Amino acid sequence: MKDLALKTDLEACEPLLKHHEQLEALLLRLDGLLGTCDAPEEYVSVLAEITPCLNMHLACEEEGLFPVISKYHSMVLMEVEHEELTKGTQQLQQLLGELKEAPAKLPAFKALCKQFISDHLDHIGRENNGIFPMVERELSLTEKETVLEKVREVEQRAAQEPIGPIQRKAKTFQPFALNLDDVSEKPVQAFRLSAVDAFDVKHMVVKAGHSLAEHWSPNAIFMLCMKGKGRWFSRPDKDAELVGHLDLAPGVGVAMDPQLLHGVEAQEDCHLVLVLK
Ligand SMILES: [Fe+2]
Ligand SMILES: [Fe+2]
Repeated sequence: MKDLALKTDLEACEPLLKHHEQLEALLLRLDGLLGTCDAPEEYVSVLAEITPCLNMHLACEEEGLFPVISKYHSMVLMEVEHEELTKGTQQLQQLLGELKEAPAKLPAFKALCKQFISDHLDHIGRENNGIFPMVERELSLTEKETVLEKVREVEQRAAQEPIGPIQRKAKTFQPFALNLDDVSEKPVQAFRLSAVDAFDVKHMVVKAGHSLAEHWSPNAIFMLCMKGKGRWFSRPDKDAELVGHLDLAPGVGVAMDPQLLHGVEAQEDCHLVLVLK
């Protein structure tokens, strides 16, 4: 985030804005063809310009800008829109390829062009008016330099060899089973079940007769008792009286604010699942 001492006029999004202008001009050309032209070759020529320009631009945003700004704001929606636009160019290329054999598909092709132009302009508008001004306001000089350097690097790569469509890691899942019968000898033990960008999930076991001493976490916590019996307690700060009491039993849980002092006493071996932001 911006350090006041590093206030700068450096515009991290300047090259990206230029790409937007180029893309808008190409989209305008495509839109102009829709009312006047039925010759597939004309569309081949304009799409042959849009596709590499869009691929290069998306790579600049995803490799240069998003990694820096996503530390403060999620770019997931923008990434989804990038996937949609990429799919749009691929569908247009495919339908255009089919037009020679099947000219009756021209109206469907034109309708897809209209949709693509409108989605694309909407996306550009959301970035020009929302994301980019936020980037210029909030990033430090060093962060802006990092963005510009990476964008330049992608542009140079694209000048050597066209950049392909954005690639995403295949979406996947990892099943797991919680062993609620296997308790170690330690009075309190925690195991990490899963860690993704947004949160940590832990399995904590507090053995019968033991307790997890009063403490606080800098982050919000959600805790759910899976097995066993115990007592959860809390107080808003160290000088305050205990205010929160909860009899822990399977299915009983609690959502805690960051920095809330809290602890756990186990009457039976207590298996807790903790989700930490
Ligand atoms: Fe974008
Ligand atoms: Fe963009």
